[in-house]
Amino acid sequence: MNALYLRDESKREKAVAKISEYQPEYAQTAPVVFSEFSLHTSQPSNPEQVGNLLYPCAANSFEVIAVDNSIPLFRNSWGKAFLAGLNRSLLSNGSLILPFYPSKIAKHKGYWSLKDLRKFLGCEIGRNTQLGLAAFKRSDTLAPPVSVVNWFHHSHPRAIHPGQFPDLNLPEVRQTVSAMCLHPDRTEEYIRLMRSHLETEATQPELIPKRFKQLIYYTMGISNKHACLDHIIQTHLPRRTDVRFVDHGGGFGMLGIELLLTERIQTAVNCDPSARNLFLSFLLFDFFRDHLNGKYHFEHTKAETFTYPDPVDVICYLVSFLYVPDEIKYATLQRDWDHLRPGGILVIQENIRSETFKRETPSKFKGVQRKGDEPIMFTVEKIDELMGRFGDVRRYMTTAAVPISKEEGGVKLLFRVVQKKE
Ligand SMILES: C[S@@+](CC[C@H](N)C(=O)[O-])C[C@H]1O[C@@H](n2cnc3c(N)ncnc32)[C@H](O)[C@@H]1O
Repeated sequence: MNALYLRDESKREKAVAKISEYQPEYAQTAPVVFSEFSLHTSQPSNPEQVGNLLYPCAANSFEVIAVDNSIPLFRNSWGKAFLAGLNRSLLSNGSLILPFYPSKIAKHKGYWSLKDLRKFLGCEIGRNTQLGLAAFKRSDTLAPPVSVVNWFHHSHPRAIHPGQFPDLNLPEVRQTVSAMCLHPDRTEEYIRLMRSHLETEATQPELIPKRFKQLIYYTMGISNKHACLDHIIQTHLPRRTDVRFVDHGGGFGMLGIELLLTERIQTAVNCDPSARNLFLSFLLFDFFRDHLNGKYHFEHTKAETFTYPDPVDVICYLVSFLYVPDEIKYATLQRDWDHLRPGGILVIQENIRSETFKRETPSKFKGVQRKGDEPIMFTVEKIDELMGRFGDVRRYMTTAAVPISKEEGGVKLLFRVVQKKE
């Protein structure tokens, strides 16, 4: 049997035990574990290698795909597009084994209940309620919603392989870059920056696995960032229909773009000082051009040098505020605060400084936090004090779309939110 088994690496043994309890034959088929490094094959060559959830597998290739419940799968467009991708990878008689949650918990946390899965996937063919796993037949009618996941499946080769880059001299490229620029008079500068980045990249093909890993990290991260931000915006700005969003250090803009694609916000500015992110943002914008024209803009700059063209409703720093120099952190936040419309929110997410970040290989859950970041990372007291100068700090979990108290939150990675008075 050709089976694909997707799980959170750190909980491998527990997950294998669970799945084999559900259907013993799956354990015997030595489930496939994807390799991040065999990029040129449609299927992994070495099952011992550690995998990732977004490996772009070929259509019609598996009899069974099982997703373990150590992975929080949100019930949003991201989650739907992800499931649609798995469904596409099944053989016509194949089945998908998925975790589900009791209705109340699913509703509260933003996960999938059995009812939701049935509604989306159609035919259920078995379930073990105690284990929280259910099996579904391959659906022939499933249409993936618009999500950055689709972009990943379609465009990852262009985003990671030197030599597959577009010709930046084409007039349509110039037009797209100009449409994406917050200040269109920077078009030529942006094209020069991208060209120089791509030329350097082409001389370093050894970076491909690293680029692929980064792309997976960003695309995966949108699953929960989108679910949580969506919840936070609904909670704090329930009646605002024209939400303007700024993401400082937003990478290549996936979060703002997913929020735009799901129509939670009306405009997004992504501000990031990296030339690579400028290039990736260009690819992403180009892919969703029809949805994003006039709504999404990129500004190549550091947060502290950004100039707001208009007041906005949501200002985010997700694992990026630590890079603003200490001596101007408060002044930068004050500038942000002054550009928030009444009722608007400032959202900051930061890993809390700890011994883990001094180690050579930090846990994959710490994402792209680099080892050298440890000295500039926040303590709980420092981030609470800084944000507390602007108002009461509210906290939300990162793994579920729910609020959390200061005590419960402790040193966890959280979203901290301060709201400006109406
Ligand atoms: C760890 S990544 C986080 C990206 C994204 N916000 C996320 O949560 O996935 C940090 C980002 O901050 C950007 N960055 C670095 N220094 C910055 C600064 N001074 N102002 C704004 N962004 C900065 C980097 O280019 C990078 O994209």
